[in-house]
Amino acid sequence: DGNSAPAISAASMVVVSNRLPFILKRNEQTGQLERKASAGGLVTAVAPVVIKGKGIWVGWPGIHLDDPNEPIPESDPKDRTPTAGLLSKQVVPVHCDRHVFDQYYNGCCNGTFWPLFHSMPDRAEFSADNWRAYVKVNQEFARKTMEALEKVKEENPSATPTIWIHDYQLMICANWVRQAAEEAGIRCKMGFFLHIPFPPWDIFRLFPWSDEILQGMLGCDMVGFHIEDYCLNFVDCCQRRLGCRVDRKNLLVEHGGRSVRVRPLPIGIPFERFVQLAESANRVMLTNQQIVLGVDRLDYTKGLVHRLKAFERLLQKYPQHIEKVTMLQIAVPSRTDVREYQELKEEMDQLVGRINGCFTTPNWSPIRYIYGCVSQDELAAFYRDAAVALVTPLRDGMNLVAKEFVACQINTPPGVLIVSPFAGAGEMMHEALVCNPYEIDDAAEVIHRALTMPEDERTLRMNYLRRREKVHDVNYWMRSFLKAMGTLITEDGEETLP
Ligand code: ADP
Ligand code: F6P
Repeated sequence: DGNSAPAISAASMVVVSNRLPFILKRNEQTGQLERKASAGGLVTAVAPVVIKGKGIWVGWPGIHLDDPNEPIPESDPKDRTPTAGLLSKQVVPVHCDRHVFDQYYNGCCNGTFWPLFHSMPDRAEFSADNWRAYVKVNQEFARKTMEALEKVKEENPSATPTIWIHDYQLMICANWVRQAAEEAGIRCKMGFFLHIPFPPWDIFRLFPWSDEILQGMLGCDMVGFHIEDYCLNFVDCCQRRLGCRVDRKNLLVEHGGRSVRVRPLPIGIPFERFVQLAESANRVMLTNQQIVLGVDRLDYTKGLVHRLKAFERLLQKYPQHIEKVTMLQIAVPSRTDVREYQELKEEMDQLVGRINGCFTTPNWSPIRYIYGCVSQDELAAFYRDAAVALVTPLRDGMNLVAKEFVACQINTPPGVLIVSPFAGAGEMMHEALVCNPYEIDDAAEVIHRALTMPEDERTLRMNYLRRREKVHDVNYWMRSFLKAMGTLITEDGEETLP
């Protein structure tokens, strides 16, 4: 079914992420808590390993409960998602005071780290209160991780558990866990993976407590990033801010008498799952139109305003596309409590209105704008039937949309991918057309080129893109992480790094 577990496992893995792999919702009729699955690639790859290796997932359940001891429900027997087999005893929820959590999530994570790490310091706010909340919540995650570690150790006393901490929400968790594990006499390995860019030293040092962040990440044995540039930025910061001895060639940082590995581990997608979705999804009902597609969370890093302006410029410069081409932009509501996101929503509404008002004819409107989530089936159909995908963030750690589009390109002739050089995905998807989103004129030219590209060139480019993503899928990424940790267990036994 495309969700099958990879032929790899890791005994007693403890995964720690801001969100659990499902959220909890209260059924309004019965008052019972229920699980709502998440569809992300990370969950698809990691959940089977946690389930199979009798591990535990630690994270926020997406709801503030009056009674934090209210039990986590088992999955619905009809659930076919990757987390269906995750027993409630394999889930450790983290609960925090509502106000502190708000200062941590909306304040420090999304009001400070998100813009700063995406090299947009002008949008970042620096607040000591929010930082204190971040410290407190990371401490609570560390406490719960320790609980999970003790549980997996009880279940499997001979295993050396691997703790895998995810993303910018939890950068300073590791040292508390390390210390507590040492005191309890539990040996474990710890890895960290950052899903967003790691900025250059000159940007990173703007954060008043940046040393604490580095020390926190260095609490792990291995620190992973999407691409080598982010690794080098991190190594550079460790040297310049903390004075660590570093080895740039082998990507090692010496800290506290330990040698920490730094590794580029570019994430992939569940490729076969998207192929299958594309094969079975209904046709998109925009007849006789070439679709220029955008799919993003509504986030200022995604370059949506620039993208709409580039499309407007295309219609001004090349009026032959009028009534022939439709831009379909799907924008998922995201972080709606943060002011920057509310302002972007307003700006998008106005811009879509202005462009549509300017170009609409009795038979056609240039932009269809969906502000909401779409199902996986619909998403696959949009990807499959689009002539062009515009993946043009101003900055993006990786960008999975580019990869999902490529996987769904099963039609002949295929569509064209346009990608920004400022996304991690742009580093590896060499056969895509590249467009600097800041250059509106050039972006319009690139869209025109994509819309008029000969079939054989489209096919050639797409074949190469698909081949790479098929091999480097999300299971490959999972395997690379375990290998980098020295804890990959294949069906033939254990593999470790030389
Ligand atoms: P980010 O992690 O910043 O949100 P990515 O492009 O890496 O950006 O990942 C976005 C994920 O969200 C993709 O897996 C994509 O399929 C999903 N997604 C984006 N927009 C929508 C939407 N409108 N409806 C459903 N899923 C979406
Ligand atoms: O990829 C970065 C990331 O922040 C993930 O950690 C997160 O799951 C996703 O984007 C969506 O963001 P949020 O959890 O804030 O809704």
